Amino acid sequence: MPGIFSRTPKSSEADAIFDPKGVIPVHVGIIMDGNGRWARARGLPRAAGHRAGTKNIRRVLAESVEIGIKVLTVYAFSTENWARPKDEVNHLMRLISQSIQDELDDLDANDVRILHSGRMEGVSPSLQDEIRYAIERTKDNSTITLNVAFNYGGRAEIVDAIKKIMQEGLSPEEITEETVSQHLYNPDLPDPDLIIRTGGEFRLSNFLIWQAAYAEFYSTPTYWPDFDEQELRKAVAVFQHRDRRFGKIKDTER
Ligand code: IPE
Ligand code: IPE
Ligand code: MG
Repeated sequence: MPGIFSRTPKSSEADAIFDPKGVIPVHVGIIMDGNGRWARARGLPRAAGHRAGTKNIRRVLAESVEIGIKVLTVYAFSTENWARPKDEVNHLMRLISQSIQDELDDLDANDVRILHSGRMEGVSPSLQDEIRYAIERTKDNSTITLNVAFNYGGRAEIVDAIKKIMQEGLSPEEITEETVSQHLYNPDLPDPDLIIRTGGEFRLSNFLIWQAAYAEFYSTPTYWPDFDEQELRKAVAVFQHRDRRFGKIKDTER
């Protein structure tokens, strides 16, 4: 008995084609996962995967500009990632510092605004300075915002927001969802429309958990270092085929 329990999708996501004139997500978040497996598949050390993954941010950022995405938030290091072996953590810290040094001139020249979401506690003072300098130097750029979620955890962000709200002495009656949103790390950013996860898992791993309330989620088995321009277009094409209802019903079904 076909048709009773089987859901017929209106069109297959696998066939989704990117429409440059279609709706473009304003804010895209990316959980850049799979660096380690990418390296292992090539018989390389995990560090080589992280290097390739870091390099890939440029490619995806450039394509995001082409497509017309205005904010790209990339998950670079989670509060949970400190639990990895010390060598790997140190390597990741060096990589982020090195990429700021190597890429900042070019990012600035390309009108990229850099932001950071995450805690500064636990980050070395020199890296803190580099991050603050990158933000300050690019603050007036407006082609795209690259928000780096580094030493970031969604729960930590909510805890930090609550602390700020309490320090301001707000009374319980004054607190709304808007109040919480306004006390997150980068309150001026719109919520993400689309969250992409590479590496095949279907979880948020503490990424933008407050902001992702109504984001469309897209997961691809492709490891992050292999996620290229076509893959990004594919993710946006699938987003364009989604029906975002925000809890409402469609006008045609009233
Ligand atoms: C993502 O790649 C990068 C970070 C979490 C820093 P992983 O290092 O998690 O790669 P896999 O998941 O082990 O393949
Ligand atoms: C998520 O990847 C964090 C980043 C991409 C920075 P993880 O590899 O840490 O996530 P889990 O452990 O698979 O959930
Ligand atoms: Mg991983």
